[in-house]
Amino acid sequence: MAITLQHLIKAKQQGRPLTVLTAWDYAIGQLLDIAGVDIILVGDSLAMVALGHDTTLPLTLEQMLHHGAAVKRGVKRAFVVCDLPFLSYQESISQAIHTAGRILKETGVQGVKLEGGHPTALETVAQLTAIGIPVMGHVGLTPQSVHRLGYRQQGQTETDAERISSEAIALSEAGAFAVVLEHIPSDLAKAITSQLPIPTIGIGAGSHCDGQVLVTADLLGLSEKQPPFAKSYLNLRELITEAVKEFSREVRDQKFP
Ligand code: KIV
Repeated sequence: MAITLQHLIKAKQQGRPLTVLTAWDYAIGQLLDIAGVDIILVGDSLAMVALGHDTTLPLTLEQMLHHGAAVKRGVKRAFVVCDLPFLSYQESISQAIHTAGRILKETGVQGVKLEGGHPTALETVAQLTAIGIPVMGHVGLTPQSVHRLGYRQQGQTETDAERISSEAIALSEAGAFAVVLEHIPSDLAKAITSQLPIPTIGIGAGSHCDGQVLVTADLLGLSEKQPPFAKSYLNLRELITEAVKEFSREVRDQKFP
């Protein structure tokens, strides 16, 4: 049965942890779906993981449409969400509506994610939700602000922790269906999770969130470097390199085909 928004909210009410992973193409989307993850995020981390950029900033809307549609073609059950790329939604509410609308219409995914909890982001969430577009929020470390925040843990001072907490609550009140909490102290994530009626999805935010997300390239051991909080469940870089070396050896030794 396909996952709906109602399933996601119910999971929080029933204390059932949500699994969320990122995907960037058809094959990865299909495998995550077969393995039964709840939410597949076509994150803008695809700029780094699949396109070789140093940050998420260069990703264009056209690239997101291309990758989002490919992922969605592989998914039958999971709820699929696309990130709104940097500068494809911050200029005005109408730009955000246009971008999110194109993503839903042209890829078939069910929702979008945007970063930040400042007043314009809140207004954007409210407007998108009002026209029927499910929105996931994202606070704490927001990679689209890397040049201002870096990649360090956020929410370490009382003022910063209060700001992140207020942003998460305000995103929920604006209509977000879930909020990603990235690289913040576990206690802060726990406090936010207990206050929100919607699921919190943690990444580098401890074990008290309603769900956990990882960048799938990190989980698979495909990334050249990964954040300290990520966990690799296998070393695909090594496995691929070994398989390619073996193929090359067999061809050169005239053993294959
Ligand atoms: O782009 C991404 O992969 C993300 C996750 C880290 C949550 O936003």
